[in-house]
Amino acid sequence: MRKSALEPKGANLSRLRRALLSWYDHNKRDLPWRRDANPYRVWVSEIMLQQTRVAAVLQHYARFMQRFPTVQVLARARPSSVLAAWSGLGYYHRARRMHQAAKVIVRKHQGKFPQTAEEWRALPGIGRYTAAAIVSISFGEAIAALDGNVRRVLSRVFGHSEGTEVAWQRAETLLDRDRSGDFNQAMMELGATVCTPRAPQCRNCPVSAWCKSQGPDESRPEAPRKRKQLYYALVRKGASVLLVQRPADVSLMAGMWEFPEIPASRVNGSHPVASFRHSITDTDYDVTIVAIPHEKLRSLQDNARWFARKGWERLPLTGLTRKVLRSSAVASLARPQNLTQVSQ
Ligand code: ADE
Repeated sequence: MRKSALEPKGANLSRLRRALLSWYDHNKRDLPWRRDANPYRVWVSEIMLQQTRVAAVLQHYARFMQRFPTVQVLARARPSSVLAAWSGLGYYHRARRMHQAAKVIVRKHQGKFPQTAEEWRALPGIGRYTAAAIVSISFGEAIAALDGNVRRVLSRVFGHSEGTEVAWQRAETLLDRDRSGDFNQAMMELGATVCTPRAPQCRNCPVSAWCKSQGPDESRPEAPRKRKQLYYALVRKGASVLLVQRPADVSLMAGMWEFPEIPASRVNGSHPVASFRHSITDTDYDVTIVAIPHEKLRSLQDNARWFARKGWERLPLTGLTRKVLRSSAVASLARPQNLTQVSQ
């Protein structure tokens, strides 16, 4: 038997495909990038959806498309504007690489999008999954897209596979070659909404009749999340706030603007204005923002500057800073005496 062979086979496999596609046709979520398979829109959505939940992407996608409606506009933009529009989505290297790829498409391909997965893979930020997702959805290329969700669905339905390459081959064997874009999205959708990691809803599953396993995998418990406490200073002067720019050479959120971080030892006696739980990858941060009077600042770091609302709204802010600046704690900056504690 070939390593990639799937059970069930033949006619059974076509019935499984039909059942999945029919379920997708009736149950798919109405997502903005599904209304129009234009490669630019699909590309942006696929980059945003990497490691990011649909709900978070929805908050950014429409605004991003409004700000950069075409690949030409994106290619011409300043890097800081692209990062500003990405603020809050995290994994900022995705935005930088997408911006670089836009320049390549405009300058080297005269604004024409590549039509095959192979050509897409030559662009910055495009891996095997993303290339396959874009060309199957936009151009109907018969190529399977394997992401974490799809891999889990395949393991549950057909049994655990050894190694990534075998999983790719399985996905390829299962693919409905006439409706590849819909089929790939149906697999992703099933993994995201029904065949979920912890509590799969097998009773609502269109392929449960073919499925080898029922219920969650107990074999691979999720790694426990880490917790950390962070303190930031909200320093105001009139209607301006003090922000600092992260160095260009750090691995996380390079070049983005945030509140000055302060050690726990400086918090005592300061007025807390906001407290948040903020999650990045495997860590939950308990974040407290404390108000520090600007008269108490002894000196300003080189990378610190004052910004009024108009200025900070155009900056590439870290997600956390953006969240706080939009919260009622800062909305009340217009009325300086009126700082309130918010908890969210
Ligand atoms: N995750 C990544 N791409 C997706 C898509 N097109 N539909 C649903 N989930 C996705």
